[in-house]
Amino acid sequence: SASTLRPSATLSNNSSETIEVAEIDWDNLGFGLQNTDYMYIMKCTQGGTFSKGEIKRFGNIELNPAAGVLNYGQGLFEGLKAHRKQDGSILLFRPEENAERMKTGAERMCMPSPTTEQFVQAVKDTVLANKRWVPPPGKGSLYIRPLLLGSGAVLGLAPAPEYTFLIYVSPVGNYFKEGLAPINLIVENNLHRATPGGTGGVKTIGNYAAVLKAQSAAKANGYSDVLYLDCVHKRYLEEVSSCNIFVVKGNTISSPAIKGTILPGITRKSIIDVARSQGFQVEERLVSIDELLDADEVFCTGTAVVLSPVGSVTHLGQRVSYGEGGTGAVSQQLYTALTRLQMGLIEDERNWTVEL
Ligand code: COI
Repeated sequence: SASTLRPSATLSNNSSETIEVAEIDWDNLGFGLQNTDYMYIMKCTQGGTFSKGEIKRFGNIELNPAAGVLNYGQGLFEGLKAHRKQDGSILLFRPEENAERMKTGAERMCMPSPTTEQFVQAVKDTVLANKRWVPPPGKGSLYIRPLLLGSGAVLGLAPAPEYTFLIYVSPVGNYFKEGLAPINLIVENNLHRATPGGTGGVKTIGNYAAVLKAQSAAKANGYSDVLYLDCVHKRYLEEVSSCNIFVVKGNTISSPAIKGTILPGITRKSIIDVARSQGFQVEERLVSIDELLDADEVFCTGTAVVLSPVGSVTHLGQRVSYGEGGTGAVSQQLYTALTRLQMGLIEDERNWTVEL
């Protein structure tokens, strides 16, 4: 149960230090919830500011049935990861970016938000409290899930009177059941993820509930996930249920521009930077479905997904394949560059990682 601390084991690393890790099967992590020891909670009233948070034992939370988040979806979430280095230390990847994105989303959803400093400190405290759940080097990562919830009770439609900032964590492996192998996407032609003026550009919880129907249908038909098109022209790429999309043609890599309906992914932004520094031309603009079908390579990016090659896209019954069943060269090159950085295996010239 959540109230019993599980046993730990010790691992030796190369420098003969020992690392204490939880006793779970580290070789078979997927992207499923593993309860850990502690979570972080901080509360604030409407019109107030967050001040003092605390680390508590991981467990259920109590909410009034009329909580704003339960009735009207006033909620945001974030996702970031911690990796363990060979020497046992832990690296966070760009946590300030998540803090900034939560602030932007909170403004859109009429919620107060923690400051960047509070957010980053809370992430650090939560990871350190759950240190033994950070996978050994090369076995995966600790996924960190900050939430911002309208936790106060309201009956009429209005911002909630109280807010809860919460962080929980779970060790994870690969997001898709395909592992690192290419995924198969189907283009959705009826349902849309976001609308101009809506909330597609912020990480509000309702954006994700809205895609479950299309995602479930796609999975039932053997696809890995769904690619959404813009709701006005039904012609331009938006994103996949849980990640951003990139199209490679020659030396040019294109991704839909962030214009309100696309989630501004931190992995997306990082891959754009890394690709430019490796000599690719990167374009953020409208990308049409025709370009996708004509691409040399297609890949998805996200914190959970990391960088996932796309093996095929099916659109109106037409199936187009990429990479002859394997990972394309550009996808492989960018995946390697990003993950080496996140795992502390190459020098972090951009100062993206934060060591704990
Ligand atoms: C992430 O990649 O961190 C996300 O928030 C996507 C989620 C659907 C797993």
